[in-house]
Amino acid sequence: MRKDKSLQMLRQAAAGCRECPLGFHATQTVWGEGPIGARLMLVGEQPGDQEDRQGRPFVGPAGQLLDRAFEALGWPRDKLYITNAVKHFKLEVRGKRRMHKTPAQREAAACLHWLESEIEQIDPSAIVALGSTAARSLMGRPVAVMAQRGQWLEREDGRRVLITLHPSALLRLVADREEAYEQWLADLRHASAVARKSTDPE
Ligand code: URA
Repeated sequence: MRKDKSLQMLRQAAAGCRECPLGFHATQTVWGEGPIGARLMLVGEQPGDQEDRQGRPFVGPAGQLLDRAFEALGWPRDKLYITNAVKHFKLEVRGKRRMHKTPAQREAAACLHWLESEIEQIDPSAIVALGSTAARSLMGRPVAVMAQRGQWLEREDGRRVLITLHPSALLRLVADREEAYEQWLADLRHASAVARKSTDPE
């Protein structure tokens, strides 16, 4: 079966997923976005408020920071496959606000087969784990993101995963945000270089 067809079927199946309680409360499943054969795959934690409303990954403030970084590295958004470890927004309603809640490990585990299917279909040359939920799902074990940021880890299937911070962690900083951004960009540059090597002629 053609890969675009398989991915479309997976997306349709995930739209009705109720394998954990999150699907009962979120507005919709937020599936990954990007071309089949994208060299770079970025994996976040879970959709946020904007993503839940719009049904697209990384379209809120964290996504804008991600777009800025990858534009700077020469990767426009339409060349990337962008997805999340967890496909539904986990929220807590406080007054009129819908606050983000970190997904439980059992929720990330229930979602893992969707992420693994995306990896299989897209077959990227490099995967970037944005934050600890993504790193844990991708590696199948907890990862100390601050200690291992900027490093490549190898999965059991041989795929390499670059570990770095989630863009929301940068947005939460009150001081030295630009400096932290430059360090983050330096992490992401490793993944960009590997993905570029895999496409450029020798
Ligand atoms: N944070 C994430 O991890 N993913 C999104 O899609 C948006 C914010």
